[in-house]
Amino acid sequence: MPPVLYLVLYGGNIVMLQDFLARIRNQKSIVGILGLGYVGLPLIRAFTHAATNGGDGGLKCIGFDVDASKVQKLLKGQSYIKHIPSSYIQQLLKQGHFDATTDFSRLKECDALIICVPTPLTKNRDPDMTYVVATAEAISKHLRKGQLIVLESTTYPGTTKEVVLPTLQRSGLKVGTDFLLAYSPEREDPGRTDFDTQTIPKVVGGYDPPSLEAAAALYSCAVKTVVPVESCEIAEAAKILENCYRCINIAFINELKIILDKMGIDVWKVIEAAKTKPFGFHAFYPGPGLGGHCIPIDPFYLSWKAKRYDVTARFIELAGELNVYMPYHVISKVAEVLNEQGKPIKNAKILVLGLAYKKDVDDLRESPSIILIEQLKHRGAKVDYNDPFIPTTHKQREHDLKMTSVALTPTTLKKYDLVLIATDHTQYDYDLIVKHAKAVVDTRNATARVKAGRQKITKA
Ligand SMILES: NC(=O)c1ccc[n+]([C@@H]2O[C@H](COP(=O)([O-])OP(=O)(O)OC[C@H]3O[C@@H](n4cnc5c(N)ncnc54)[C@H](O)[C@@H]3O)[C@@H](O)[C@H]2O)c1
Repeated sequence: MPPVLYLVLYGGNIVMLQDFLARIRNQKSIVGILGLGYVGLPLIRAFTHAATNGGDGGLKCIGFDVDASKVQKLLKGQSYIKHIPSSYIQQLLKQGHFDATTDFSRLKECDALIICVPTPLTKNRDPDMTYVVATAEAISKHLRKGQLIVLESTTYPGTTKEVVLPTLQRSGLKVGTDFLLAYSPEREDPGRTDFDTQTIPKVVGGYDPPSLEAAAALYSCAVKTVVPVESCEIAEAAKILENCYRCINIAFINELKIILDKMGIDVWKVIEAAKTKPFGFHAFYPGPGLGGHCIPIDPFYLSWKAKRYDVTARFIELAGELNVYMPYHVISKVAEVLNEQGKPIKNAKILVLGLAYKKDVDDLRESPSIILIEQLKHRGAKVDYNDPFIPTTHKQREHDLKMTSVALTPTTLKKYDLVLIATDHTQYDYDLIVKHAKAVVDTRNATARVKAGRQKITKA
């Protein structure tokens, strides 16, 4: 729809929209990214990409974070995320396309502000909106006319209008006439090599048509395909649908693993056979439990909101129950294998391979390995871990393992009563692991191609 029609149809501030679009066209826009984590940093790369390739495109970005240590690292040209090279940050700084700060008064310098802060659960598994609210409050203090605010954090449908908007309007400015507002979910999948931030289509929902047009134009500078949708709520719910879909299907395949295991049937071989159907089947894989910042958490944002409408999200609750149980299933397998050696878990020496929640990433948030280690220790086992991407553990909100990765050598492998493969990192030499381990419990089918010593392997 031509912008001028908005004036007639929606009464929005047409001058504001046209100014915003003109600054994008002239590549004068500055994008502020709030929250420089696994989502924020790749987004900066997507916006600045053309600039670092020597092209004319690419927008300037300012990164904002409350964590001064992250800002200091970035300003020194150091990346703390495995798949964003430090050389990239250094090049951006040198070319003047990037700055990072803890000074939120600089929010005013930006044309668009994109919120990429955490949305975890509280101890009672309710949405913890404190980060989103704090960020909206910080923006509200510095909000100026003509800015576009976009929420990217994953959250329940309604957050942009019910939580972010009222906080922003405390500034005295009004959405539609003074500023633009949109929601666009992040679909980042760290460790993926076939898609990245630029090539994953970006769903965008606007508070009103001018906000949608502004947000779609903004993201067109960073991603190849923008998918405009009718409202913020549709964009919010689309993200939750994607994550619930994964959570529920993973729970189902985990349950099937337990059932088939009792029947002596290998679930991984069943999946390979089913996968040959060219339509109507999408393979999901079992594991030691759900991990990461999204799949174990986001569905509960929806079930929480559903309660307000007197509806129980039964699929989500059931999937949560099954997935939470998986590390305990693995521990019962560990106990069985040790039992065959005549050993109890107490005082058994166990090496857990892989601390990250999935292969080839350095992210241990919500990782089932943490539960496995804590529970094995709780039962008296002597546990070490190896993870090539996580040399030492750091304190998390709920956990503090205080451990350091041990070297993975034939000598160290031989020291343990059992090796538990929790994450199937590509760089592991599974032949070597099976050769030198006394017993292996494999939760990922990582040893599928190992030929020698298969009698030592138990799948869990
Ligand atoms: N990690 C993923 O793969 C992924 C994928 C899709 C969606 N998401 C969603 O994106 C959001 C961000 O996730 P993430 O993985 O990047 O989190 P993260 O923890 O890696 O990064 C969040 C950053 O926000 C900063 N922060 C916290 N409060 C702030 C504030 N008030 N102002 C500015 N910065 C603040 C933190 O210091 C941190 O650096 C979450 O809602 C998450 O569910 C994450």
